[in-house]
Amino acid sequence: MAPNRKTNKVISAHNTELDSRMGGGLPVGSLTMIEGGSGSGKSVLSQQIMWGALQDGFIVSLFSSENGVKSLVTQMKSIDLDIFEFLLMGKFKVYPMELSHLGEQAVEALVEAMQKEGSMGRDVMVVDSFTSAIIHTSNDQSILHFFEECKRLCTKGVTILVTMHAETMDGDMIGSIRSMCDGHVVLRSSQDGQKLVKTLEVAKIRGASSVTGGIFGFDVEPGWGMRVIPISKARG
Ligand SMILES: Nc1ncnc2c1ncn2[C@@H]1O[C@H](COP(=O)(O)OP(=O)(O)OP(=O)(O)O)[C@@H](O)[C@H]1O
Ligand SMILES: [Mg+2]
Repeated sequence: MAPNRKTNKVISAHNTELDSRMGGGLPVGSLTMIEGGSGSGKSVLSQQIMWGALQDGFIVSLFSSENGVKSLVTQMKSIDLDIFEFLLMGKFKVYPMELSHLGEQAVEALVEAMQKEGSMGRDVMVVDSFTSAIIHTSNDQSILHFFEECKRLCTKGVTILVTMHAETMDGDMIGSIRSMCDGHVVLRSSQDGQKLVKTLEVAKIRGASSVTGGIFGFDVEPGWGMRVIPISKARG
């Protein structure tokens, strides 16, 4: 088992099209922000990347505001990503974030939980979504502190993905956070006539092994997952 964990320099989604558009995968030890509105694909993209990481033997922790373990297994299975075996082997940990009762403390609690995971040798950590954690806080300092701590974990070799709705933050704040991140992916979902068009923009992936792919269209297909499609086709 775990044939590639020690040697792989990137986290691959194990989806050839997606990997090649994302510069060959996310560099190990990078911090990536996945930005997008509701239904734009943040969870599906992070699920695809987590699954790819598990295939390569990485140990993954997910902090989820959306899913408990059971609903996550069902959701991922619906797009052909079977994680059951990894959960059983303790290679994949899922922590449902119960944020509402933590209020202002939610971000700090998340930081502490991630530090604890870091000390247990996790390779990949995903927060989906960070928006749910910050909805309860008015404190910009604690948000910046969260990203600083993420960067600290990255220097120890942890690869981190954070999903968020950018609209919930003011411009200065989101600007500072974007510049702290090594990777920045923007997902958009818009109505074009009868058709719902989904696009993924790779704004940056610092340290990518090949050129990243700009903007491309994608579909989420039951029993398959994310499928890259030409943008003209995406637009109908
Ligand atoms: N099994 C599936 N079959 C078909 N479409 C799916 C499947 N699973 C997810 N989708 C679709 O993928 C799209 C992206 O969903 P996703 O949950 O990733 O959005 P999101 O950006 O995380 O939204 P939110 O901010 O509400 O959490 C949605 O249109 C959803 O309906
Ligand atoms: Mg989601």
